[in-house]
Amino acid sequence: MNRFPKSRRIVIANWKMYLESPKEAVKYAQNLRKNARNFNGVEAWIAAPFTLIPVVAQALKNSSIKIGAQTASPFNAAQSGVHTGEVSAAMLKNAGAGFVLVGHSERRAMGESEETVREQSVRALSAGLTAVLCVGEAERSAEGTHFGFIESQLRSACEGLQAYAGRAAVAYEPIWAIGKSAEDAMSPPEIQETAIFIKKVLSDALGRSAAAKIPILYGGSVDRANAKAIMEEGGVSGFLVGHASAKLDSFVEILKAVRPLRQAQGKQARGKHAGN
Ligand code: PGA
Repeated sequence: MNRFPKSRRIVIANWKMYLESPKEAVKYAQNLRKNARNFNGVEAWIAAPFTLIPVVAQALKNSSIKIGAQTASPFNAAQSGVHTGEVSAAMLKNAGAGFVLVGHSERRAMGESEETVREQSVRALSAGLTAVLCVGEAERSAEGTHFGFIESQLRSACEGLQAYAGRAAVAYEPIWAIGKSAEDAMSPPEIQETAIFIKKVLSDALGRSAAAKIPILYGGSVDRANAKAIMEEGGVSGFLVGHASAKLDSFVEILKAVRPLRQAQGKQARGKHAGN
């Protein structure tokens, strides 16, 4: 079972529907792969639309970059195959996916309930995928009602996940900060406060040692301008990036910005020597 050591840094490109053709997706994946030594120490994952998963998986074969899906069915074929249009977690695994986003706010807005999200997580994890559970409030209030909201999303999805904590991650995405510009992202101190809260809820629900294996990511208008500051001060293990991941160069800039200090400094020193 794979584990998430504390020092792990993960940045996920959420392609949403931005990339549509296999040709552009493969070109992106190949060029990301070529750039890999520029973001040493950071794991790059791509959450792709279903149709692009097999070609991108092929383009990323034997690389450390992970390919995954943006959602999965709450059903599986063993229960019943009668689910027209659904794509099960096992199908995703067979197509080359290693992880799946569950409960993204754009999916919840289309009607996915907490129960559906819980089923999706269980199916994904039992099919051998890593599940990235997305949570986040639509608005904040001075009374802190958003904390109760986040807690209920987490607790509902956590039921039955104990055995799989080593393959789960949480992406905290406040809905009000999604799809805007860098200055509209949540501030690093607020992100840190929420990340601590999420860790506490996971710890209460799953136990301390299981919770410690679950990395917390932040999503919502992360781009090259704010990635470094949020990584340093936000208390998170990485990001879920939407619009700024649609173009390869801006995604690579984010990956570079979150490199662990040692890797970034080594790179700078080598650059200086080369210039001498
Ligand atoms: P954004 O999207 O980076 O465009 O805000 C994040 C997401 O919805 O996952």
